Amino acid sequence: MLSKPALSRVCIALAERSYDIVIGMDLLSDSATYAGLPKAETAMIVTNATIAPLYAKHLENALKTHYPRVLQVILPDGEAYKDWKNLNLIFDALLENGCDRKTVLFALGGGVVGDMTGFAAATYMRGVPFVQVPTTLLSQVDSSVGGKTAINHPIGKNMIGAFYQPSLVVTDISTLSTLPARELSAGLAEVIKHGIMADWAYFEWLEANMDKLLQGDVAAMAYAVRVSCEIKARVVSLDEREGSSGIRATLNFGHTFGHAIEAGLGFGVWLHGEAVACGMVMAARLSQGLGLVDAAFVERVTKLLIRAGLPVAGPESITPDEYIHHMSVDKKAEGGQIKFVVIDKPGHAKVQAAPNDLVIAALK
Ligand code: NAD
Ligand code: GLY
Repeated sequence: MLSKPALSRVCIALAERSYDIVIGMDLLSDSATYAGLPKAETAMIVTNATIAPLYAKHLENALKTHYPRVLQVILPDGEAYKDWKNLNLIFDALLENGCDRKTVLFALGGGVVGDMTGFAAATYMRGVPFVQVPTTLLSQVDSSVGGKTAINHPIGKNMIGAFYQPSLVVTDISTLSTLPARELSAGLAEVIKHGIMADWAYFEWLEANMDKLLQGDVAAMAYAVRVSCEIKARVVSLDEREGSSGIRATLNFGHTFGHAIEAGLGFGVWLHGEAVACGMVMAARLSQGLGLVDAAFVERVTKLLIRAGLPVAGPESITPDEYIHHMSVDKKAEGGQIKFVVIDKPGHAKVQAAPNDLVIAALK
């Protein structure tokens, strides 16, 4: 039998808002994982209809050691439900159960549940503590870390939200065993992103280990999750609120194009990671158009994304005008000018504007 990867811990260093990501196997159901969290009368698990039957009871049993009352709210599953109406289901449950401002929320699920629960925690009674328990690869390597919380608006992705850090992130690699292959690939998009924009040696490790990751090798997976979290921790610690330094914005490599695909097709048609994968190829081509990288770089990035089972060509139904329209509401846009994350050398990114003809050429 294969041995369990050792428990690891990554700290997000943000002064009084610092917290740990604990990464390991079978953590979710272990009550010791939750020792040290704020004390409260009530813990509320927020999850969705797919994840609840798999993991909610395990989490509830573990939390019962620490909290006299453990409640659950179950949201519908999907990006299409990351909106005001469904956010309100969390507030309804909190208020109907008389939950006070010490109540601790537990986001059990992928990035959709995590982003919605985080936003609910940021705003319920002006802020209650919350814990991320990410169960998709994408949420383990990206969305559970760094405190971005949001819901979508029909006009734009993640347009309504807040920066609000969790108290703890519980990353249980064992939950990935039930994740559908398409969702695993979507998570690999953000993993590959970290290599491209921050650590070229990691990109090369991914090239060498992609087959293991696709086969669900837990040691390879635990390594990739840890390195991705370390990269994101470094970036977030330098620029928590995506300020004018542009450091955190580089984590959005591929997202300006990707968000346009998601909004253009309607939220939930393509998975977020799929749209980001395709967006990264477009952003790599734009970087080449700007003379920053060569064609061999674009090809290498494209090849690894294809190996990870990800799309690298945009949907034909979205016209260049529609891309430009959706990208103009991107959060990086300033005074109507769209800003792009581009690669200026493998493993390093920066933010800059680009002429429309190069942007349109990058879409093809
Ligand atoms: P998701 O939350 O929709 O989860 C994907 C699917 O997998 C869902 O159907 C879910 O029910 C199911 N699922 C989750 N865990 C499972 C498991 N262990 N076994 C079986 N099925 C499981 O999607 P996602 O890819 O996790 O997250 C995408 C969202 O994250 C987007 O809304 C995106 O905007 C957001 N995001 C946020 C940040 C951030 O910094 N806050 C970063 C990246 C992405
Ligand atoms: N996913 C981009 C960020 O957290 O900043």
